[in-house]
Amino acid sequence: MRTIKLTFIAVVIALITTFGCKENKDSETETSIVSTENLDEEFYRPNYHFTPKANWMNDPNGMFYLNGTYHLYFQHYPDGNVWGPMHWGHATSKNLIQWKEQPIALYPDELGLIFSGSAVVDKENTSGFGKDGIIPVVAIYTYHNMDGEKAGDIDFQTQGIAYSLDEGMTWTKYSDNPVIKNPAIKDFRDPKVIWDNQTNKWIMSLAAGNKVMFYSSSNLIDWTLESEFGEDKGEHGGVWECPDLFPMKVENSDETKWVLLVSINPSAPNGGSATQYFIGDFDGHKFVLDKDFEQQLQQKNSIWLDYGRDNYAGVTWSNIPKSDGRHLFIGWMSNWDYARDVPTFKWRSTMTIARELKLKNKNNAYYINSLPVGELDKFAESKLSRALLQNDELTKLLKDVDLNFERLRLGFTLNNLKNDSYNLVFHNKVGDSLILGLDNANHELFIDRRKSGKVDFSEKFAPRISKTKLPNSLAALPVQILLDKTSVEVFYNNGEIVMTELFFPNEPFVQFSIISDDDSFTIEDFKVREFNFK
Ligand code: FRU
Repeated sequence: MRTIKLTFIAVVIALITTFGCKENKDSETETSIVSTENLDEEFYRPNYHFTPKANWMNDPNGMFYLNGTYHLYFQHYPDGNVWGPMHWGHATSKNLIQWKEQPIALYPDELGLIFSGSAVVDKENTSGFGKDGIIPVVAIYTYHNMDGEKAGDIDFQTQGIAYSLDEGMTWTKYSDNPVIKNPAIKDFRDPKVIWDNQTNKWIMSLAAGNKVMFYSSSNLIDWTLESEFGEDKGEHGGVWECPDLFPMKVENSDETKWVLLVSINPSAPNGGSATQYFIGDFDGHKFVLDKDFEQQLQQKNSIWLDYGRDNYAGVTWSNIPKSDGRHLFIGWMSNWDYARDVPTFKWRSTMTIARELKLKNKNNAYYINSLPVGELDKFAESKLSRALLQNDELTKLLKDVDLNFERLRLGFTLNNLKNDSYNLVFHNKVGDSLILGLDNANHELFIDRRKSGKVDFSEKFAPRISKTKLPNSLAALPVQILLDKTSVEVFYNNGEIVMTELFFPNEPFVQFSIISDDDSFTIEDFKVREFNFK
């Protein structure tokens, strides 16, 4: 039985008053008193998603791979469980699934707090930071100067760099920071750097208010503005943040296209923050939208990486070896609408599962496909597998097996579908339910977490059902579901449409059923796997 702690933690965020509060994060308070009454701190700690041991986390930062280790840095406030003066926390992994938290990588300094950014392995030592043959890793990040912000200045965000000569464990800040000063743009942040083989230069994508600015450099220190993109493209109901530009091969073709991820807060399709993307060409100087993609945008206005509410600020890993060749992505599994209010207290926020992105083209429409990285399979033990089931058989079948719904992967295809609703429901003994659904008559996929347990910690958490539109009704729908203690990640049609959401049940879910008025649909290739991490 889990222990019930009756502790009250009073967290007085004195540092927030010292450094001030972050703009745009409207519900930030200077003092936050939180309680863990009736809640075991570890009850909601995920089984296989990364969380910091203690205190606040937001965006993933500076991800790179080197010599068998994946590095994940993250926006971190080590002294409180809400957003505060930002540091870069650090975690490492050999397999993208099991993470080990490391000492804090970057601390705020007199130039400011350390906001989001990226890291590259500077193999040719273009920066000159390498010594005695040691290859430097260079982090490029935003300085957020609180004094400047408080004084009402506009130029309080600048870009700085730091280097590591021990593969990302310790960092030295460059002595002449900032390397990019602010050109009088209030939101000027989140540098993501890649090496461009066309121009043999580093290319930086930087969020600048309502657009992305591209810079180039031959040494990671001196940067030249190349071009801008996006003022009149995509969604603009909020500030653009955390861009990521990279080339991708279109699956099953020789074509290469460039993908630009752009997070935006607010104005996500289901409220708050989310990540949109663009597909086009980049010649080392300018990003131009692909014509077919532009048409897609004309119809939809914006295209999103994930239609759930909890995948934000995600970017891709750098320095993945050619022999691997994958585009590996991780996102922050939360939403600025309520990130500070979710009912975990000792620690706050989780990352999504690491995902592999693929670029596909179907009927002249490009899209990004996401699936969990294959490494996750190594920890999955098969619990059930059936080639074909009727719905009433499913209910009986599941009654007889003991499944741990706190670390589960479900996969199946719904077949012979009618213009009806199909609700995939997780439930527990105290009446909480989480519904993933297909409303086939209205051409919609949805997640309904309104009755999923604790929801009233924020009015913005579950005001309504999250939805995404489908072009037409479906005859069949392949579904993959990852369930952890407080998160569901649903990959429809082998990763074509993704929905990621959090939930906080009062007790763990213990049952799964499919509810529909249609009694003739079939469930094919039904597989249940349980994760074990020993
Ligand atoms: C995105 C973001 C970034 C910023 C960071 C600060 O969630 O707002 O734009 O660098 O968080 O923590």
